[in-house]
Amino acid sequence: MVEDSLSANAITDGLKTHFIGQKALYYPSLTSTMEVARQVAREGAAEGTVIIADEQTAGKGRLKRSWLTPKGNIALSVILRPGLSALPALIMLASLAVVHGIEAVTGLKPQIKWPNDILVNGKKIAGILIENDVLGNRVTTIIGIGIDVNLRLADFPEIQAIATSLSDKLGHEVSRLKVIRALLVEMERLYLPLSAGGSQTRPYFALFDEWRDNLVTLGKKVRVTAEDATYEGIAESVDTDGSLLLRRPDGTLTRVVAGDVTLR
Ligand code: BTN
Repeated sequence: MVEDSLSANAITDGLKTHFIGQKALYYPSLTSTMEVARQVAREGAAEGTVIIADEQTAGKGRLKRSWLTPKGNIALSVILRPGLSALPALIMLASLAVVHGIEAVTGLKPQIKWPNDILVNGKKIAGILIENDVLGNRVTTIIGIGIDVNLRLADFPEIQAIATSLSDKLGHEVSRLKVIRALLVEMERLYLPLSAGGSQTRPYFALFDEWRDNLVTLGKKVRVTAEDATYEGIAESVDTDGSLLLRRPDGTLTRVVAGDVTLR
């Protein structure tokens, strides 16, 4: 059994960052860290503030789905205030921070399913939800991250076929604290060069290249469920703004900005 109780101090003490994770708000249980993060951001919380919970009673997924957060998992949201031009990079940055954080602590090598599902051996281990509040050229971004850490999938038959957890994968429990701290350090390392320059800069393209190279989706036959329609085709490439370029059976290329991919 890993000693792993979460608290604000356990996250912030000695954390090697300048601002991401320097302030943390911990809740044993709340509705959704997205809701609380939005609230405290409106009240002026500092950039980099992290909201973290042991349990969410109304966790939110992408595309208006719900997200299950039983105890033993990671559910957190980070408040950022990026420049407008850095917005497309946030999906890439968040995915890579999770990939690097998991790899640093466990040695597992997760992959990314476009746009930002994190998989281990083809099963989802983490999900990312990004919400932006844009007011003129001032942006508040909430990056929500859910990671299945110490979860016995056998207890959750409804998601067992598509999801996995670090403990199921490794055969032992994993310290959530170590994963959280590693991913916060990674997030700031990737964010700092961007917040200075935004898109069309060298750090932006370096981030894009790494994200693209970790996508398990490219070259595969896929079905994409977008808000308005479902498309099938070969996931040919991604554009630097993060959109997916899908080669359709009739030879045309469709650009998908947001959606959910099923590998076929
Ligand atoms: C997805 O894959 O659909 C995204 C899931 C995002 C879940 C996280 S858990 C922490 C944060 N709070 C939420 O309510 N959702 C995100």
